[in-house]
Amino acid sequence: RRRHQRAHHRPGRVAEAHRHRRVQGHRGRRRLKTVGVFDSGVGGLSVLRALLAELPGTRFVYAADSAYAPYGERTAQDVSQRTERITALLRERHGIDALVVACNTATAHAINELRQHHPDLPIVGVEPALKPAAALSRNGHIGVLATRGTLGSARVAALRDRLVEASPRPLHFSFQPCDGLAGAIERHDLPTIQNLSERYVQELQQADAAIDTVVLGCTHYPFVQDQLAALCGADVTLVDTGVAVARRTREVLATLPATSQSNTVNGAPLLLSSGPPEALAQAAQRWLGLGVSASPLFD
Ligand code: DGL
Repeated sequence: RRRHQRAHHRPGRVAEAHRHRRVQGHRGRRRLKTVGVFDSGVGGLSVLRALLAELPGTRFVYAADSAYAPYGERTAQDVSQRTERITALLRERHGIDALVVACNTATAHAINELRQHHPDLPIVGVEPALKPAAALSRNGHIGVLATRGTLGSARVAALRDRLVEASPRPLHFSFQPCDGLAGAIERHDLPTIQNLSERYVQELQQADAAIDTVVLGCTHYPFVQDQLAALCGADVTLVDTGVAVARRTREVLATLPATSQSNTVNGAPLLLSSGPPEALAQAAQRWLGLGVSASPLFD
């Protein structure tokens, strides 16, 4: 930047400064780190939003597996295979330096295996925010909204059991699977979103009327946070994970060595979808104000 300013203030030196910079570009300039962000569909955009705020100067490649969404009602094996396939593609074609699995369901089913298969790739996962919720709750009564797959996974059960055991006060977690809700958000089907939100919040309240904290355990749900908050009532705190995941990603990137290859293009994230690319571009515009087009994930 100093060089740029000098060139700006001394017009006679512009050409020379440019030539100098181009040479530097291939040798000494630091390459932007590329982070892959992956979800079953548009939900991971809620994580991308936090990542863009936390890590300006990072290149993001967002992969939505919308042709296979929702993952929440698929088998663990299916989700694991899709996660593996998309990770391989992001590595081979897009040269990612790190991966954010911006999907609770894929994290729950696939992250252990993924880390085994890619020991050289830093991978950040997303888990329902049970621990922050336990810290925030006044009375220890916590509701968790997530997909059936996430809530049925051994990983999330183990997380709950660890917290209950370690807590000095009793903790009561009520798990509420929200079949169809991620799919309705994916399609931007507003009447279904409203119906399902009403139904699941009601079921949660019936399960435990004392709940004062609700975890949004699916990355699609922050996009319907207003509806959920209105249904839960003003005394209930909603907790999501986007900001915590973005901070963790920053820590992980800081441990990576700076590379000296030629630079990649900075700017807006690259958006890729296995479903209709326009639907992803529209969601990114609607929720993140990103005016970029999207491309097919696979040829
Ligand atoms: N957004 C995902 C999650 O966080 C998956 C939703 C789905 O595809 O069912 O769990």
